[in-house]
Amino acid sequence: MSEWNKSSWRSLPRVQMPDYPDVAALNAVEAQLARFPLLVFAGEARRLKKHLGAAGRGEAFLLQGGDCAESFEQFSSDLIRDTFKVMLQMAIVLTHGAKVPVIKVGRMAGQFAKPRSAPTETVGGVELPSYRGDIINELAFTADARIPDPEKMLRAYTQAAATLNLLRAFSTGGYADVHQVHSWTLGFTENEKVDRYREIANRISDTLDFMQAAGVTAETAHTLQSVEFYTSHEALLLEYEEALTRVDSTTGKWLAGSGHMIWIGDRTRQPDGAHVEYASGVQNPIGLKCGPTMQADDLKRLMAKLNPENEEGRLTLIARFGAGSVGEHLPRLIKTVQAEGANVVWSCDPMHGNTIKSSSGYKTRPFDSVLREVREFFDVHAAEGTIPAGVHFEMTGSDVTECTGGVRAVSDEDLSDRYHTACDPRLNASQALELAFLVAEEISDRRAAQQAKAAV
Ligand code: PEP
Ligand code: CO
Repeated sequence: MSEWNKSSWRSLPRVQMPDYPDVAALNAVEAQLARFPLLVFAGEARRLKKHLGAAGRGEAFLLQGGDCAESFEQFSSDLIRDTFKVMLQMAIVLTHGAKVPVIKVGRMAGQFAKPRSAPTETVGGVELPSYRGDIINELAFTADARIPDPEKMLRAYTQAAATLNLLRAFSTGGYADVHQVHSWTLGFTENEKVDRYREIANRISDTLDFMQAAGVTAETAHTLQSVEFYTSHEALLLEYEEALTRVDSTTGKWLAGSGHMIWIGDRTRQPDGAHVEYASGVQNPIGLKCGPTMQADDLKRLMAKLNPENEEGRLTLIARFGAGSVGEHLPRLIKTVQAEGANVVWSCDPMHGNTIKSSSGYKTRPFDSVLREVREFFDVHAAEGTIPAGVHFEMTGSDVTECTGGVRAVSDEDLSDRYHTACDPRLNASQALELAFLVAEEISDRRAAQQAKAAV
C-alpha cells in the first residue's frame, strides 16, 4: 500500500462521484479552491474530537442534525437561525435528561453532495442522470440541469463560508443565552399542550431560576451565553475535499478544512475505495454510516484503516438499520468493536433506514418509526453493556411537512402542504423537539433504572 497523500484517493475505485465533462474547468476550480481560506481550524476539529472521546465514555452526548442536503435556492439566514435554534433547544432538553454535556454538530455549511440509489432517473419515459446535490448539478429535470458543473463548488464554498460566519456569530453573540433558549422551549410546549413536555420544561426553568438566584448568570458564567457549535457533512465530492485539505502547522497533520467532522456514507464505505482512503489521512473526527449490509469483517477493516491508533473520539459509528432491524444488525457490530478493543462513539441515525413512500406518493418517514429505531438502539446497547453516545437526525427549524406523525400529527394528506426538501424528508421543528423530549426521557428513565438496580 503506498503512502497517503491528499490525492491518493484518485488511484482507487470511486463510486457516487460525477464525471465532469469539462476537465479543464474542473482543474481551474480546484486550483482556485486550493487558494481559498479553510472554513474550519485544526484546533476546533481537535476540540470536537476530545468532546467525542468523552461521549464514547458516556461523559457527553452527541446531537448531530440538519438538512439532508443544503440547497442554493433555499439558502437564507432565517433558515440557518431556525435550525440552530431548534438544535439548541433539543440540546438543553437532552442535557437535562442525560445529565451530561451535549455536543452540537450541524449537518450544515457543507452538506451539499448526495449519494443516490440509482445513477439515472426516469420521468414520463425520459431518462436523465440523477440529481446529486447542488454542489454537483441541478434538481430541475432537464438534460442541461443534470450536467455536473464544477463551478458549483465555488458557490457551495461561498455559501458554507457565509453559513459558518453566521453560526459563529450566533454561538458567541448572546443569541445562545441559555435563558433565551429556554423561552423558545416554552413556546413550543404551550402551543402543543403536552403536559409531559411542559413538566420537563418547568423543571429546566426551575433549575435556571435557582442558578440565577445563586448568582450564576450569563454575565458571571461565560458558558451560559455561548455555545460550541460544530459543522459536519458527508465527504462525498473528493475534488472539493482535497482542495480544502491542508497541513495544520501546529501538529504537521492534515486537516479536512471543509468542516469540523466529516462522514463516510453507507454507499461509499468500501474499505479499499477512494472515500475511505481520503478520510483515513485527515485528522478530523470521522463518522462512518453503518447500514444493514455492513459485515463484521468490513467493520474490522474499516476501523483498522480509519483509526489505526485507536484514538478516542476519532471514529463515530452511525448505525442506520431501520426500525425493527436494529436487533438483527447492531449486536454483531458491537461484538466486533469489543473483540478489537476499539474506541468508537456509537450514534444512531433513525432516518435513513425508515424512508417509505406515502399513500400520497411522497417519500416520508413516520415519526413513530424514527422513535422506535432510537429505542431499539438504546435497548441493544443496554443488553450488550455498551454506551449509546449520540443521535443523528435529518431535521430543519422550519415548519415543513415531510415526515408524518408527531404531536401535531402530520398526515399523509398533509405532506403536499410544505414539502420543501430537495432530497430526504426532514423532521420539522416541532417533531425534532418532541423527539428530543422523548429521547431525554428514555435516557433518564434508563439511568434511574440502573441506579435502582445498583442500589439493591
Ligand atoms: C445521509 O446521511 O444523507 C445519507 C445519504 O446517509 P446514508 O449514507 O446513511 O444513506
Ligand atoms: Co438523507
